[in-house]
Amino acid sequence: PGERPLDRLGRPLRDLRISVTDRCNFRCSYCMPKEVFGPGYKFLPQAELLSFEEITRAAAAFVQLGVEKIRLTGGEPLMRRDLHRLVAQLAALRTPDGKPLDLTLTTNGALLGRQAQALRDAGLQRVTVSLDALDDALFRRINDVNFPVADVLASIATAQRLGFAPIKINMVVQRGVNEHEVLRLAEHFRGSGLILRFIEFMDVGCTNGWRMDQVVPSGELVDLISARWPLVPLEACKPGETAERWAYADGAGELGFISSVTRAFCADCNRARLSTDGRVFHCLFAHQGYSLRHLLRDGHSSDAVLAGVIGAHWQGRQDRYSELRALASEDAPARPRVEMHFIGG
Ligand code: GTP
Ligand code: 5AD
Ligand code: SF4
Ligand code: SF4
Repeated sequence: PGERPLDRLGRPLRDLRISVTDRCNFRCSYCMPKEVFGPGYKFLPQAELLSFEEITRAAAAFVQLGVEKIRLTGGEPLMRRDLHRLVAQLAALRTPDGKPLDLTLTTNGALLGRQAQALRDAGLQRVTVSLDALDDALFRRINDVNFPVADVLASIATAQRLGFAPIKINMVVQRGVNEHEVLRLAEHFRGSGLILRFIEFMDVGCTNGWRMDQVVPSGELVDLISARWPLVPLEACKPGETAERWAYADGAGELGFISSVTRAFCADCNRARLSTDGRVFHCLFAHQGYSLRHLLRDGHSSDAVLAGVIGAHWQGRQDRYSELRALASEDAPARPRVEMHFIGG
């Protein structure tokens, strides 16, 4: 405890992404396509999920080892009942030098309006909302459950009103699907104080049938947007950030580009992921994790043992999947890997 392990590529552990449910109320085709996640699909039974107490205990061990930021994800994290209770427990954690964590949440926004006040009261500081289109018909088609975009926009407005900051908006850009919405989203969020981020469509999981020609390179989007509103690059806030930050030259605020396909950012990757059923995955593209659940449930493993196991695994880590994929030929066979809805991206 108190020591900060480095992995085999010299990277510290800073960021923990916790998936609190494998369920989602959307069926985005690139993540949980209906053909796979239909009525017959078996989600994890309750007993397999970590309890809030187990999650908090695991998180505390990660914090001892250097984690400063925790992001709750899913599936859709707001599908987990009483999530605000978990937020309150995590908000009470402190780093070894006494600081509160950067605690945040990635949501599709459908249930956010309803839960925002409880989450805020529990100590959540900021949120990130996924939003792939403003056009209602297209948005309904992308989420594939006919969910109206107006409800997500209303949730975002509620979050703004309650003082969540910064609020980030994540748009996954897919060639031929929503690339024509890029300028529209940029225009909508310019000057709003919210940070819009464009994400290159990634080859996560095995069910989304990813192909390189579905990716719109961030460089292309920077050119497209700056032709309309000139952009200036910003310095990174923290090492290992996913997004390259830019600002509108006219002062209308910040935007970001997450380019894991065309400009892999593994070199400083400091992220670990805790899955819904209590396994740890180091890489978004990993196909194997190690289980913490049995340690959390065996009734005798101490917090120090837990931290020791997590630290030892981190020290053995050498993942850099996106970098390796960039080096490999495009039609090299895909390796097995975990589904994103399960470890939350
Ligand atoms: P901030 O602290 O708000 O900047 O959050 P973040 O960018 O770390 O997290 P967010 O959930 O908003 O992630 C944005 C996108 O980046 C999502 O599509 C993630 O799947 C992707 N992403 C996050 N971490 C990684 C990673 O380690 N590797 C890769 N390849 N993609 C990642
Ligand atoms: N490529 C890029 N981003 C993805 N997300 C889900 N699937 C993919 C993918 N294949 C995004 C979600 C959310 C974030 C956590 O990950 O839209 O914004
Ligand atoms: Fe749900 Fe997000 Fe996956 Fe869409 S991308 S199905 S909203 S978890
Ligand atoms: Fe980290 Fe893996 Fe993403 Fe690279 S591909 S940045 S190693 S999670």
